[in-house]
Amino acid sequence: MDVRLFDEAFGALPEVLRKSEPVCSIILGSGWNRAVADLNPVAEVLYSDIPNFGGATVIGHSGKLLLAEVPESGAHVLAFCGRRHYYEGVCWESVVMPVVLSMRLGIKDILATNAAGSANPDFKPGDVVVIEDHLNLFCSNPLTGCHNPEFGPRFPDQSRVYSVELCGLIERAAERVSVALHRGVYAFSGGPAYETPAEIRAYRSLGADVVGMSTVPEAIVANACGIRFAALSFVSNMASGMGDERLSGEDVIACAEAHSGKMAALILEFLRSLPFCRIVRK
Ligand code: HPA
Repeated sequence: MDVRLFDEAFGALPEVLRKSEPVCSIILGSGWNRAVADLNPVAEVLYSDIPNFGGATVIGHSGKLLLAEVPESGAHVLAFCGRRHYYEGVCWESVVMPVVLSMRLGIKDILATNAAGSANPDFKPGDVVVIEDHLNLFCSNPLTGCHNPEFGPRFPDQSRVYSVELCGLIERAAERVSVALHRGVYAFSGGPAYETPAEIRAYRSLGADVVGMSTVPEAIVANACGIRFAALSFVSNMASGMGDERLSGEDVIACAEAHSGKMAALILEFLRSLPFCRIVRK
C-alpha cells in the first residue's frame, strides 16, 4: 500500500480530529447509519474532503466521518458513516482508509458493520450476525504489493482475525438490549453483481453463513496491524437462490432501514460497555 495516500488523508483532517483520542472506531455499512443519531457530535468531515478517500458513491452510505461523544460515558468515538468498496474500482488504500486513519489516531478497537445475504437457511432477513471468521476466495488482498512493516508482518497470522473479547462484549450488549444474535462465517464476494445460486451453494458448502461485498479487506488490515476487530452483519435478504425473490440494492437498504432501531440500540450499548482506557480529558 502507498503510505503517502494515507499521509495526505490524515494531514487533511481538521485539527480537532487529528488531536482527538477516540477509544474506538465504528464503520457503518448499509442501513447502520442510524447508530450515530444517539451520539453527541463533536466534529464532522465529509469523505469528499479527505484526499484519496473520496465521496461514498453507494446508496445507504452517507459519506462522512464523525467524531462523537458516547452519551453518559464522555468517551469519544470515531464513526465512519459509509465505506468505499472494492467493486467501486477505487484503490485498496481508499477501501481500508478507515482502518489506517484509526491506527494513526492510536485507536485499538474497531467495530465494522454491513448488510449481507444469508446462505444459511436458519438466518433470516432481520437477523443480526456476529462474524467469527471469513472466507476470502476471490483471491485479492489489500496487503498485496511491497511489504511495509507499518502494516504488520509480511505474512500475518489470520487464526484470530475477529476479536473474541470484542465479540463477547457485543454478545453481552445484545442480551441487555434484547437483540438476538447469531454467530457466523462471512464470505467476501467482490460484487457489484450479486452472486449466482451456484456460487451461493458453493459458499454454503464451504462453511459460509452470510455473504457480502465488504468488511473483509478492513478486517485483514486491522488484524495485520494488531488492532482488535469485530464485525456485525445485518441479514437483509436470503442470498441468491435461497428464496424466490430477485435481489436489489434498494430492497437491501429498505430492509436494513426497517430494522435500524435495533441495530442502533446494539451499537450504543456496545459503545457504552467498552472498557474506556482513553477517557477524553475535559
Ligand atoms: N450478496 C452480497 N452482498 C450483499 C447481499 C447479498 O446477498 N445482501 C446485502 N449485501
